[in-house]
Amino acid sequence: MTTALIQKDHQAADLDVARIREDFPILGRQIHGKPLVYLDNAATTQKPNAVIDRITRYYTHENSNVHRGVHHLSEVATAAYEGARGTVKRFINAGSEKEIVFVRGTTEGINLVASSFGRTNVKAGDEILISAIEHHSNIVPWQMLCQERGATLRIIPVNDAGELLMDQVRAMLNERTRLLAVGHASNALGTINPIREIIELAHANGTTVLIDGAQGVPHLEVDVQDLDCDFYAFSSHKVYGPTGIGVLYGKEALLEAMPPYQGGGDMILSVSFDKTTYNALPYKFEAGTPDIAGVVGLAAALDYVSALGLPSIAAHEHDLLLYATEQLEEIDGLRIIGTARHKASVISFVLEGVHPHDIGTILDQEGIAVRTGHHCAQPVMMRFNVPATGRASFGLYNTRDEVDALVRGLERVIEVFR
Ligand code: ALA
Repeated sequence: MTTALIQKDHQAADLDVARIREDFPILGRQIHGKPLVYLDNAATTQKPNAVIDRITRYYTHENSNVHRGVHHLSEVATAAYEGARGTVKRFINAGSEKEIVFVRGTTEGINLVASSFGRTNVKAGDEILISAIEHHSNIVPWQMLCQERGATLRIIPVNDAGELLMDQVRAMLNERTRLLAVGHASNALGTINPIREIIELAHANGTTVLIDGAQGVPHLEVDVQDLDCDFYAFSSHKVYGPTGIGVLYGKEALLEAMPPYQGGGDMILSVSFDKTTYNALPYKFEAGTPDIAGVVGLAAALDYVSALGLPSIAAHEHDLLLYATEQLEEIDGLRIIGTARHKASVISFVLEGVHPHDIGTILDQEGIAVRTGHHCAQPVMMRFNVPATGRASFGLYNTRDEVDALVRGLERVIEVFR
């Protein structure tokens, strides 16, 4: 990393992080008698008061079922739920609220597409293209679909930096490629994929594209119309919202043509034992009472992030990425896995002679939370020939002091194990 690049990013970072940290009550906690240093944001982010208070307000003043009653509370809850759909639409610049389907998270969004779009459009002999650095959630649903339909799953390889080989993307797309599904950013390596170029290539080939945005939305501005992706899935809990709720964006014409994913309340217009007619979009894909509190909490999180501004968040996180990369590279025997030119604020690493789980355990004693293991991306570990890695992932509230604490923690690990 050049000093000039680091200085440039300093100037870009204009978040008042000290003040922002006060919005997150959990950051004031002590763990094993040490101040919490939370560096596991790619697994899940902490929640600001704006989100916690919004969920409390919902259950204290507004709780009722949606789309079902004429009574006051049902109208209030419905307005909050549908208002949140509008917030999501604006956040990712979808063309219509009909294109915003609430699901449990990225994983369910991908499963919905695999099950509904996949079963309708993928037949024997077809191909689905994913990359070598996908999360299991963007591998297994396609494997299951391919197995069921007699289709083939093909894997775009990556170079030693963890970047997709774009000439391979061009070469692998062919008349049988029904769908291409890639992550916006890799949870295990941090690689930001050139999704705009990938989408263009796929569309020129007549291939539908799904983007796994779990690690994209928290760090990068997403404009689904500008990207022209067909599907984009993301999880609330990775963008400072509650767990158990997420979004599937799909182009209206595609969603319109797809059969329902699950049957039950809210996705029907009328039911008789002879025939059931389905509700309009997006309700056709929202069977059962939804996670209303989760949805309003998600909208509060997106409002919070919007108020800070994603460009400022991205600049701050990029500064932390560069600073941490520079500091970690100084540690004897530490090797960073994933050195792509374009990276989200994720650093995976191995430390010579120390198993990643031991790194995690010693760091925990210092109050430092990192993830260790295969990060639900076992093929990535195989590609880089490591059993597991340690992973520090930064969010909008992290600081350079916390990077320094991580470095001191890793020095402690070395003292104990070498
Ligand atoms: N997918 C999450 C992670 O990367 C759980 O840690």
